[in-house]
Amino acid sequence: MFKLIVIISILATSILVTNINGFLFSHKEKCQISEYKGGKDFSGEKIMANKSFVPYLKSIGAVAKGCKVRVHVTDSYKQLKTPTEYVLASQMPLALGRGIHFDLQSPKGSTVCNKLCMTTGSWKTFPETACFIDNVQKKGVKFTEPNLLHDGYASKLTTSDLEALKVAAHKLCAPKTKNTKS
Ligand SMILES: *[C@@H]1O[C@H](CO)[C@@H](O)[C@H](O)[C@H]1NC(C)=O
Repeated sequence: MFKLIVIISILATSILVTNINGFLFSHKEKCQISEYKGGKDFSGEKIMANKSFVPYLKSIGAVAKGCKVRVHVTDSYKQLKTPTEYVLASQMPLALGRGIHFDLQSPKGSTVCNKLCMTTGSWKTFPETACFIDNVQKKGVKFTEPNLLHDGYASKLTTSDLEALKVAAHKLCAPKTKNTKS
C-alpha cells in the first residue's frame, strides 16, 4: 500500500512538472509579425504586420473594395539590420508592424492616386480616394498625412517606450540564421 502511494505521488509530481513546463514554454514570447495576404484588395509590396494589426488590415481591404480602389502598399514592417537602428518617429508604426505606407490604384491596377497625389493632399479631390480615406477612419483606422495607415498605438506611447518595444520586436523577429540573403 505504501509503495503504491509512493508510485502515485511520483507519477503525480512528474505530470505536474511536465504541465508546468508546457505552460511555461507555450507562454514564451513568439514573434507575432508575419506576412498578411490581403488578396485582390491589396497590391504592391508584401505586407508584414503584427497579428494585432490584422483586423485593421481587414477593415482597410473591405473599405477599399467598397470604394472601388485597391490599396497599393509601398512599405510596411521591415526587419532592421540591428534592433537599435534609428527609426524616425513617422516610421515607428511600420517598425512595430502596425502600419503601412500606401497609395491607391483602381481594382485593375491603374493609378487612382499615386505618391505625388497623396503627398500634395490632392486625394481630397478624387471621389474614390476621399471615399476610402473617410471610411477607413470611420472603421477606427488612423490616417496620418501624407500616406500612412496605422492603428494609433504608437501615438499613445512615449519615445522611450516606443524604442524599447521596437528593439524587443526586432530582436524577437530577427531571422534565426545569419548570412541568409533574401
Ligand atoms: C504584437 O502586438 C502584441 C499585442 O499588442 C504585443 O504584445 C507584441 O509584443 C507584439 N509583437 C511584436 C513582435 O512586436
